[in-house]
Amino acid sequence: MNLIELIGRFHPILVHLPIGIFVLVIVMDGLTRFDKFAYFSASIRLILGIGIVSAILSLVTGYTLSLEESNNQDLVDNHQWTAIGTTALFTAYYFLRQKLIAKRLAHTYTLLLLLVMLAWTGHQGGSLTHGEGFLTEGIFETKTATETQLNIKDINQALVYKDLVQYTLNQKCVQCHGAEKQKGKLRLDDLTWIKAGGKNGNLINTSNPADGELIKRILMDDIEEHHMPPKEKTQLTDAELVILQWWINAGASFDKSVAALTPDAKVMKALASFKAENQNQEKAIIKTRESIKPLEKKIQEKLEKMGWVISPVASDDNHIRLTGYNIEISLKDALASAAEISEHVIELKLSFSALQDNDLNNLSKLKNLEKLWLDHTGIADNALKQATALNNLEYLNIVGTKTTASGVKNLMNLPKLKMIYLQGTKITAEEKLALESIKSNAKLYFGDSMKSAITDTLFVKKAE
Ligand code: HEC
Repeated sequence: MNLIELIGRFHPILVHLPIGIFVLVIVMDGLTRFDKFAYFSASIRLILGIGIVSAILSLVTGYTLSLEESNNQDLVDNHQWTAIGTTALFTAYYFLRQKLIAKRLAHTYTLLLLLVMLAWTGHQGGSLTHGEGFLTEGIFETKTATETQLNIKDINQALVYKDLVQYTLNQKCVQCHGAEKQKGKLRLDDLTWIKAGGKNGNLINTSNPADGELIKRILMDDIEEHHMPPKEKTQLTDAELVILQWWINAGASFDKSVAALTPDAKVMKALASFKAENQNQEKAIIKTRESIKPLEKKIQEKLEKMGWVISPVASDDNHIRLTGYNIEISLKDALASAAEISEHVIELKLSFSALQDNDLNNLSKLKNLEKLWLDHTGIADNALKQATALNNLEYLNIVGTKTTASGVKNLMNLPKLKMIYLQGTKITAEEKLALESIKSNAKLYFGDSMKSAITDTLFVKKAE
């Protein structure tokens, strides 16, 4: 960092000085109207003078800072001009104050104008450091980019970049790399930005795909600091990853259709699940769960020792997902321990475990459970009987188990259940029709195995 840059870095600290002083001036000046405070008048000129000097210093440091590149040059320019204007106004006020005070109304309006200018300048500066919308994002919902719904009828006609890649980036990246925030000085919300890259240059390297920053970050192990998206955020699904790599390997064209890039079998599969993922699942509903205390460290350690993998379900939510691939003790005991923290557990994943039908006698205690994976295990209808107590259950996967139609039937009127994945169970074709004719909110997925496979792999990473 050279000297000029160093001077610039003082700007964010220094600006608070004129802001504070000017606010003080406006308040004191207003109060001089009351006899009790009339004596303030004598000090105002001095304080105002100090304020102006500090404002000029802020202008200088601000200007130096603006020489460093910014990804929001328009806002920088605007901020510069309002800051100069505000300083000029306060300076003019310094000289005209005596005259203005005689005219009460004009004086009041001037003070208001000064206050507005000051606030406006400060707000622009704040937006530059924290991102536009920083002030209002908690009050108004300003995020719209991620709310677009996928609408593809024929996947072959879809445009690979626009409908698949950009769609994915909107969902998983744009909240930090878009119009509002540009982490790493990078925007991913439009192709011009994607072509422009971030501060480390090229995002996409078509001659050596593995070398592009975009794919490098995503493929990095998620324990690495630079992994994208940051590990506490929703990760790319396997299908999204396959599609993204395919797009880059095929030259990262911004206008070709799926058919034009001739997907192979693996990509076709990914495309099918991409479509299923994004069209079956209704828009991610923002859940309003009761907020609870984080899980106690001691209990967490005890469960981890048994082999449970504990992961958060959202960054600002203390509810957890329990995954039991490598349970070291009997599953029955492990589940009894899980039941002790039933308040916290909203997702339970036991896919491909050694689970047997009678291991799940404690399942009904996990009242908060929203998602349950029991696929490819030894369970049968007893497990499903336990599940009938789970009034919050939304998602159930019993693919590849010995469950039967009568077991499933009992679940169909669970109030919140939306999806049951049940191919490869003991349900016959006839029973399937009968189940489908039951009036229920729950959709049954018997069909092509990818749909469930992808939901299976959503959260698989990190078994350690
Ligand atoms: C929660 C915020 C957040 C999300 C979501 C996020 N990123 Fe980032 N990203 C950052 C931050 C912070 C940095 C800068 C720190 C760093 O380089 O690791 C960054 C830096 C980067 C960089 C390096 C830019 C450069 O040239 O230095 C790339 C590439 C990147 N992100 C890609 C992505 C992709 C692709 C996604 C979506 C799959 C994504 N990010 C999602 C916060 C985020």
